[in-house]
Amino acid sequence: MKAVIAEGPGGPEVLKVADVETPEPSKGEILVCVKACGLNPVDYKIRQGYLSSDKKYPAIYGFDVSGIVEKAGSGVTGFSPGDEVFYYADLDKQGAYAEYHTARAEIVRKKPEGLTHVEAASLPLAGTTAWQGLFKQARLAFGETVVIVGAAGGVGSMAAQMTAWSGANVIAVCSSSNTEYVKKLGANHVVDYTKQDIAKAVLDITKGKGADMALDTVGGDVFFETFKFLRPFGRVVFLNAFTAQTPMTSLNPARLKNISILCEFIHPSVESLDFIATLAERGFLKPQVETVIPMDKIAHGHRRLETRRGWGKIVVDMSL
Ligand SMILES: NC(=O)c1ccc[n+]([C@@H]2O[C@H](COP(=O)([O-])OP(=O)(O)OC[C@H]3O[C@@H](n4cnc5c(N)ncnc54)[C@H](OP(=O)(O)O)[C@@H]3O)[C@@H](O)[C@H]2O)c1
Repeated sequence: MKAVIAEGPGGPEVLKVADVETPEPSKGEILVCVKACGLNPVDYKIRQGYLSSDKKYPAIYGFDVSGIVEKAGSGVTGFSPGDEVFYYADLDKQGAYAEYHTARAEIVRKKPEGLTHVEAASLPLAGTTAWQGLFKQARLAFGETVVIVGAAGGVGSMAAQMTAWSGANVIAVCSSSNTEYVKKLGANHVVDYTKQDIAKAVLDITKGKGADMALDTVGGDVFFETFKFLRPFGRVVFLNAFTAQTPMTSLNPARLKNISILCEFIHPSVESLDFIATLAERGFLKPQVETVIPMDKIAHGHRRLETRRGWGKIVVDMSL
C-alpha cells in the first residue's frame, strides 16, 4: 500500500510517500481502508520527537480517521466489511497517513450519518479533547460563562460549538482575522487578543465577576492570564505541556483564588465519538474543514499547521 512514512524524527521534510506492507488486523482489530485522515498538532509533535522516545521507524503518523472496514480480525463483533467508520487512533501505534490502517475495534464507531469522510475525519481528536475537557473534566453546567482561548483552532472550534450547545455563555478569544468565524460557531462575545487585554476584556464582559471556567488550547503565558479573569473557585482546563522553564510559583495566583487546574490528555473513547456523532447528526456540531489536501502534500500540511494560524482543520482526502 501507499503510505507517508518518516524514517526518523525531524522537520516536515522527513515525510515521504512510500510503498509499505499492508497491515493485517490482529485479534480484536479491524483493517480500515482509509478515505480521509485529519491532521492535528500531535502529528508534528511526534514527528519532531516529542512523546515518542521509543518510536520505531519507519513511522506513520495521522490519528484521525474516516474510512471503510475492509476486514475484521478474530473476536471482533459489531463490524463487517463495508461499514463506514470514524475514530481517533492510538498514538503509540502506526497512524493512518496510509491507504489502510488497523485499529482496535473497541475505539471505532460508525461514521456519523450525512457527513462525508473528509468531514468525519476532522472531528474525533479535536472533538474528543473538547468533550473530555468541558464535560468530563470541568463538568460544564448550563448557564455558566466559559472562555475558550484559541477558539478558532481545531479544538477551539469544537469547544466553542459544544459550549454554545450546552447553554453556556461563550467568550471566544482569537485574532482579528477570526472574529467573524468564531461568532458563527456560537460565541456570545469575542475578545481579539491582538487588540485587547484578555483579562480586562473578560472582566468587563462579566461585570467584574469573572468567568466560571476557561479552556486554554494555546498554553504558554496565555495560560497564566486565565487566573486573572476566572472567578474565585473557577476552573481552567489546560491542554499543553508545562516546560522546564515554568516555575511552580507561577501557580500561586491560582491558589489564592482557589482555582482548579484540570490537566487534560486525550484518550480514545467511543463514548466521546457517540457524543460527537449525535451532535453532528442533529446539526449542533458542524465540521470545520479549512483545507483539504492529497496524501503527497502532507508535509505542506504539517508546515501550515505548525504556523498555528488559520482556523478549523486540515484534512487529507485519500481520493485526491
Ligand atoms: N492535551 C491533549 O490531549 C490535547 C489534545 C488536542 C490538542 N492539544 C494541544 O492543544 C493545542 C491546540 O490544538 P489545536 O488542534 O486546536 O491546534 P491548532 O488548530 O493548530 O490551533 C491553531 C489556532 O490557535 C490560535 N492561536 C494561536 N495563538 C493564539 C493566542 N495567543 N491566543 C489565542 N489563539 C491563538 C490560532 O487562532 P488565531 O489565528 O485566531 O490566533 C489558530 O486558529 C496544540 O498545542 C495541541 O497539541 C492537546
